[in-house]
Amino acid sequence: MFSMSAVVFVCLCLITKPLVGTEGRRTCPRSCRSDKDCGGKRQCLCDSECGLSCVVPGRTCPWPLSLSENSKARLLSPTPSFSALLEVRCKPGFTLANGLDATIRRCQGDRQWSGDEPICTEVKSPELPDVRTCPLPQQVINTFSIHGDASAGTSIRYSCLSGADIVGRQENFCQFNQTWQYPHPTCKEMLCQPPKEVEQGYVVAVQKTEYEVGFDIHYLCKKNFLLDGPQKITCLSNGSWSAAPPHCRARCVIPAERSRVVIGGVKRWPFDVTDALVPHGENVTFFCKHPRKQCSFTASQICFDGKLETPPCYLEPTWLQYKLFPHRLVSEIEVCEPGDVE
Ligand SMILES: *[C@@H]1O[C@H](CO)[C@@H](O)[C@H](O)[C@H]1NC(C)=O
Ligand SMILES: *[C@@H]1O[C@H](CO)[C@@H](O)[C@H](O)[C@H]1NC(C)=O
Ligand SMILES: *[C@@H]1O[C@H](CO)[C@@H](O)[C@H](O)[C@H]1NC(C)=O
Repeated sequence: MFSMSAVVFVCLCLITKPLVGTEGRRTCPRSCRSDKDCGGKRQCLCDSECGLSCVVPGRTCPWPLSLSENSKARLLSPTPSFSALLEVRCKPGFTLANGLDATIRRCQGDRQWSGDEPICTEVKSPELPDVRTCPLPQQVINTFSIHGDASAGTSIRYSCLSGADIVGRQENFCQFNQTWQYPHPTCKEMLCQPPKEVEQGYVVAVQKTEYEVGFDIHYLCKKNFLLDGPQKITCLSNGSWSAAPPHCRARCVIPAERSRVVIGGVKRWPFDVTDALVPHGENVTFFCKHPRKQCSFTASQICFDGKLETPPCYLEPTWLQYKLFPHRLVSEIEVCEPGDVE
């Protein structure tokens, strides 16, 4: 039986024999025709490309192999001895130089695993076609709206984000060596026009015919006027002011004399209020008489820039009513019940 299978090996070995020499690194044990040609424990066995060779069948190849990051080795035979098979499989995403993800190595008569040390390399994802572009510095991106993708061989158009005119070429060409054909343009520096004057206000700044970007104008109001709006406005890069100038709002004369009113939650006689004036924005509550009942209800008005009117329901008491019957003044009588006021 053994000699029969040996014959089969002989044939396979002879066929593969011409390959000897193509594997640079392996050394072939002494070749033989039968066990008689080999000494001691050696047997005449087929050692693949080496053909029939004198080998010690029990001798083993290195195992386990030194760890590899990108591959896993698995012994396919019970022991790593002569003719044992070893599978080296690349981790997912990695392949061998020949594009396959696994290889089989055989334990040779020279106690080495067949073939070259398998090296698994990362599979390069199919990359997008190499889009070459010309650089656009942040400064340029911040200054312009750019029409075009800056890829090599194409043109872009600039427009100033500020809306200003362009100084330089409005169009540029991205050359194949990824440089721009022309220098980037610039935007004409915008200036702010003098803002509208503020009545009853002061500008705390040197008056100019034009103001440069970043210039601040501070406002103050004349005495007794209230600032309504920003205290400061800034010249923006697009030549606009950061806000409309403020207003200086006048105080209002309380349009009642012989009735008490509620100002800031306090019921007072107008003559007790300094100059009988309330500031802009003040809510003044007046007392009106119920059309049928002897009780009062309230109506409020807001002082707006010097204008404060009495509510339509308010009736100014006469001098006589005020002098003779101060306790019967509408502002002094009982307040109507909530149900009384429709
Ligand atoms: C890029 O190409 C242009 C025209 O082909 C050439 O004038 C320029 O000198 C080149 N620039 C660089 C940095 O190679
Ligand atoms: C200027 O820029 C400001 C803020 O970015 C914006 O609110 C304003 O509308 C711009 N003015 C003009 C004239 O474009
Ligand atoms: C004014 O004050 C009165 C009383 O506090 C209140 O009812 C009214 O809503 C206020 N009016 C405004 C416009 O704030």
